[in-house]
Amino acid sequence: MTKQRVLSGVQPTGNLHLGNYLGAIRNWVEIQQEYDNFFCVVDLHAITVPHDPKVLGDNTLKMAALYLACGIDLECSTIFVQSHVKAHSELTWLLNCITPLNWLERMIQFKEKAVKQGENVSVGLLDYPVLMAADILLYDADRVPVGEDQKQHLELTRDIAARFNDKFGKKKQPVLKIPEPLISKQGARVMSLTDGTKKMSKSDPSELSRINLLDSPDEIKRKIKKCKTDPVKGLTFDDPERPECNNLLTLYQLLSGKTKEEAALECQDMGWGQFKPLLTETTIEALKPIQDKYQEIMDNRDYLDSVLKEGATKAAVVANSTLSRVKDALGFLSSSI
Ligand code: TYM
Repeated sequence: MTKQRVLSGVQPTGNLHLGNYLGAIRNWVEIQQEYDNFFCVVDLHAITVPHDPKVLGDNTLKMAALYLACGIDLECSTIFVQSHVKAHSELTWLLNCITPLNWLERMIQFKEKAVKQGENVSVGLLDYPVLMAADILLYDADRVPVGEDQKQHLELTRDIAARFNDKFGKKKQPVLKIPEPLISKQGARVMSLTDGTKKMSKSDPSELSRINLLDSPDEIKRKIKKCKTDPVKGLTFDDPERPECNNLLTLYQLLSGKTKEEAALECQDMGWGQFKPLLTETTIEALKPIQDKYQEIMDNRDYLDSVLKEGATKAAVVANSTLSRVKDALGFLSSSI
């Protein structure tokens, strides 16, 4: 039986934080053996907001190294850079022409990011979800493992695929596969360390709001020491009055590998003075193997280049075949005449 296909990606903007790791990449690693996986570093998405050309390439490389360091296994997964597979841009254009503008104007992330950009909002930012739909649909992905914040973009992807099939597919023979989101129950929404009601985000101006996967033990210690807590003694999950407590206890549970019940029992009588050092220790220990592996990979640039080269070749075969199918359905004159 052929395996189902998974596709997902992360933007190479700055560092990878615990939200990206626990909400997405760790789940990729956990499920990868069951699927045929494509994981891309979505560099085209990274230029939808103002970016620095001097760091884009390096950040892209670092993100690919982090995928490997987190445990992506090349036996069952392909790692590639989005801009290396030209079909992503081309399918985006084709899908643009069948996507109603008002579907994009409704997107929550667009509205949130647009506010921050003021007059400088690019067409690319509005179009971000169509590029994401192209990423997914090119690979006939069955499953897309992401954090909670991407749910709306996945619903849009499904709507675009359904609309395309409806307009241009033959009965019983859809052109595009409609994907299912894969959002884990825990870790799908890791919150900021400075405000338990806001999600942990790369764009938060405060470094204290997030723990990055490459933070040193001292930085981790400092951030956890300064993180927001509450005056209550004893830690509990799921108390709506205590968002910070729920978030920090969830981080502890996920990073320690304990079950929810075990973590709840262990921490039910703890004060913050006892819990914070425990969380610090656990975080440092959980990230150490990833950081060591990352260094090893970054020290072997030739290896990393070869992974990305091979990845782009493999990805292009699948992507180009879908693109041909789409162009045929749209009635384009074949270029092989
Ligand atoms: P990005 O880089 O913003 O986020 C990458 C992944 O991290 C998840 N995530 C979180 N999960 C839990 N808690 C958080 N605080 C948190 N912050 C981020 C995101 O849900 C995401 O899974 N648009 C995508 C990138 C993308 C993509 C794709 C994903 C482009 N094309 C195709 C899947 C399939 C994004 O949010 O990137």
